Amino acid sequence: MEKRVAAVKMRNITKTFGSVVANDKVWLDIYKGEILALLGENGSGKTTLMNMLSGIYFPDEGDIFINDEKVVISSPKDAFDHGIGMIHQHFKLVDVLTAAENIILGLEGKLDLKVASEKIRQICDSYGFDVDPNQKVYDMSVSQKQTVEIVKVLFRGADILILDEPTAVLTPQETDKLFAVLRNMRDAGKTIVIITHKMHEVEDLSDRVAILRHGHFVGDMPTKNTDAQEMTNMMVGHSVNLNIVRPDPVDPQPRIEVNGLTVRSIEGVLKLEDVSFTAMSGEILGIAGISGSGQKELLEAIAGLQPVESGSVCYIEDDGTREELLGKDPLSISEMGVTLSFVPEDRLGMGLVGGMDLSDNMMLRSFRKGKSFFTDRKSPRRLAKQVVKELDVKTPGIETPVRKLSGGNVQKVLVGREIASAPKVLLTAYAVRGLDINSSHTIYDLINQQKQKGVAVIYVGEDLDVLLELCDRILVLCAGKVSGIVPGRGAKKRDVGMMMTRLGGNNNE
Ligand SMILES: Nc1ncnc2c1ncn2[C@@H]1O[C@H](COP(=O)(O)OP(=O)(O)OP(=O)(O)O)[C@@H](O)[C@H]1O
Ligand SMILES: [Mg+2]
Repeated sequence: MEKRVAAVKMRNITKTFGSVVANDKVWLDIYKGEILALLGENGSGKTTLMNMLSGIYFPDEGDIFINDEKVVISSPKDAFDHGIGMIHQHFKLVDVLTAAENIILGLEGKLDLKVASEKIRQICDSYGFDVDPNQKVYDMSVSQKQTVEIVKVLFRGADILILDEPTAVLTPQETDKLFAVLRNMRDAGKTIVIITHKMHEVEDLSDRVAILRHGHFVGDMPTKNTDAQEMTNMMVGHSVNLNIVRPDPVDPQPRIEVNGLTVRSIEGVLKLEDVSFTAMSGEILGIAGISGSGQKELLEAIAGLQPVESGSVCYIEDDGTREELLGKDPLSISEMGVTLSFVPEDRLGMGLVGGMDLSDNMMLRSFRKGKSFFTDRKSPRRLAKQVVKELDVKTPGIETPVRKLSGGNVQKVLVGREIASAPKVLLTAYAVRGLDINSSHTIYDLINQQKQKGVAVIYVGEDLDVLLELCDRILVLCAGKVSGIVPGRGAKKRDVGMMMTRLGGNNNE
């Protein structure tokens, strides 16, 4: 075996936040020219550990060596001086500036924008990035913004790149593109650390894995010598069942009937065209589709958040009474028992208030139900406690401000809040974005519990394997049209994948 050279050595690194020990005597080597996947449950200390390399946090104890030289990293600038650049979970670009302006922002000395643009072009060419230096950030997709962040750290000469959950908000196609670029960088001798919760990405991309559990380093190995089951067991500390159960629906009855639904964006672009289907009580109806195929518009139309051009959305009560939802306001629809849980790309940006504690965030949800909750602080507290317990939210208490929780734990609060309050219909999109595997499975269990209570669940998901295992039926969207509805049991991944990209697959219903 060729000799491995450590680009980074972290020795006995400890970092605490008040009573929380985020990292406890962590010992980690990162080798030159490798892609290391850093794994661990939500709240296990991954982001904190990497933030000490990128100069955001300073360790309470321990030493850091870069190329065998002991260093002190007390600011992002120090990190850059040592060739370390980090792409964060939440981007830090300035919206009104162009790509090139953002990239040179904060650099010392006078920099010619033309010269900079030329250098940016060279970086893009050598690794295969696609960036228009003159494009404004507000005009960019999430994936384009991320590319700018990466080019920005390369522009500053980074040799060691840390990416914190870079794929959590990317489509599978964008992820493939990113991975191709990362492989090019690795082959050019850069050192890469990637944090991800998606096991197939770890297996696909990384050379080695290192695992944290509750702030401790628990092991590392070459990726090819391990598998998803073993890695998960190490993360959690005991054996985890990675199978998803799919109980048979009990007495399914039509609950939501969508007919000829057509939706246009404000710009006049057709987002949904003549969409028809029925969602049944006690059933999980999965929605599959390439991102941007109309999933968001569909759920929002049902929830009353999206203007509709034509069609109808009927809510059918237990006694068969039908009520048209279109034209009703979101509040009346949620009072009928229809809840929407949409996990946005920017988790802190929507739905939760970072400075408020857990139970106040729970109360935000209850507010919408009626005035009586304004004075009743007990139920949000109860709900907060229940979510913390069932989803194992890592927090010192329900009084802790949400912004101090790790990314995944924030999300558990968001999803837990919505799932727990779905009496009749649960509309859920990207529920497990950013969640570790174990928590993802807890979410699947919670959704199954709702289904067994008779709730009609409409589940929009990105992971086809999960859709195929969890859902009773799968509706496939292709460019805003229904390309088919297939039973979840027995459906083939390849067939569903084809229906996502091409209309007119078989409709086996
Ligand atoms: N600024 C902070 N103030 C207080 N506590 C913090 C702060 N940052 C992190 N923590 C705590 O430290 C622990 C580790 O958090 P960290 O963000 O490193 O986890 P993570 O492994 O990145 O999780 P995730 O997968 O959810 O992103 C968590 O318990 C978190 O609540
Ligand atoms: Mg994190």
